[in-house]
Amino acid sequence: MEYKIALIPGDGIGPEIVAEARKVLDKVCEKYSHKFSYTEVLLGGASIDAHGVPLTEEAIAQAKASDAVLMGSIGGDAKTSPWYKLEPSRRPEAGLLAIRKALNLFANLRPAYLYNELRDACPLRDEIIGDGFDMIIVRELTGGLYFGARKTTEENGVRTAVDTLSYNENEIRRIAIKAFEIARKRRNKVTSVDKANVLDSSRLWRSVVEDVAKDYPDVTLEHMLVDNCAMQLVRDPKQFDVILTENMFGDILSDEASMVTGSIGMLSSASLNETKLGLYEPSHGSAPDIAGQNKANPIATILSAAMMLRYSLDLDKEADAVEVAVQKVLTDGFRTGDIMSDGCKLVGTKEMGDLIADA
Ligand code: NAI
Ligand code: MG
Repeated sequence: MEYKIALIPGDGIGPEIVAEARKVLDKVCEKYSHKFSYTEVLLGGASIDAHGVPLTEEAIAQAKASDAVLMGSIGGDAKTSPWYKLEPSRRPEAGLLAIRKALNLFANLRPAYLYNELRDACPLRDEIIGDGFDMIIVRELTGGLYFGARKTTEENGVRTAVDTLSYNENEIRRIAIKAFEIARKRRNKVTSVDKANVLDSSRLWRSVVEDVAKDYPDVTLEHMLVDNCAMQLVRDPKQFDVILTENMFGDILSDEASMVTGSIGMLSSASLNETKLGLYEPSHGSAPDIAGQNKANPIATILSAAMMLRYSLDLDKEADAVEVAVQKVLTDGFRTGDIMSDGCKLVGTKEMGDLIADA
């Protein structure tokens, strides 16, 4: 099949890690007889340098005309980069928020998977890790507290601040459907996380999720209060398959879940809308401290490309092949600096990309 992919190399290590993901995708095309045509799109600092703004209308149009968007990372060193002398709305990060909004990316997926080979990096005790864990957080990304009305008032010298947490049924339904569809491609379990003992928005959340669950009798649904979930993530992460939650809870829990795997250079993410179009990027930033030194771990970006194959292009077999290749290279003992341990072979960004493409 033929697919159009928008590539956003971005800033810092972005261009280096995206080049390695492309190497792996080229191999997928060769092996499975697909054709991917790439359009390079400027975002963040790279767009500021070329056009004076972090995102242009042309870039949005290029992304919308694609089947999927694969991104490296954007941003620079806030202390030294001239980008951060600009107003906040003209800085690199504003471009990322703007493209998420322009593409209506309401579903954020962040897998937290522990490779057996990287157990040493996991901060949890061995008996808690057991045979390892493999979960994915499905976070609502365009509603709730971060997008509700807010204001600060002052009366008699006392300031009061109000943020509004609002969800309507449609917003809850569409993210719940995403979670159940994903569970079907995994281990058929959804844990919906809320605070239904206190919040009205959570009680609505729970009732809509239960309603959606009726269409997925093959998927087990459980509800969990968010404070308990925060605890369970470090007490017994093995119990989770798909965690479905709203914007702020998901923000906090996904950082917690990613830390229990211990290695930032390994974590992929996807942001999806109602169409097949999605934006795929590593969870880490542009790492200006190691940019241009062939030191960055490209695996998070390569795994993001695997998510792109699975969720936007429906190429499950090809996605599996990429994930198996990553696993094999780790089993063979190759490591970039960030995941290096005793007895392993240290390689650079390019070598890691070559090894995974070959595998
Ligand atoms: P960062 O994730 O870029 O770096 C944190 C630390 O992890 C650094 O020591 C870095 O060298 C290391 N690291 C990150 N990715 C790595 C990889 N693939 N391989 C090896 N080591 C890696 O976070 P930081 O330093 O807070 O932010 C740097 C810039 O990135 C800032 O401009 C920030 O705004 C931007 N950023 C962009 C994001 C995005 O594009 N979605 C997300 C987070 C930050
Ligand atoms: Mg966060």
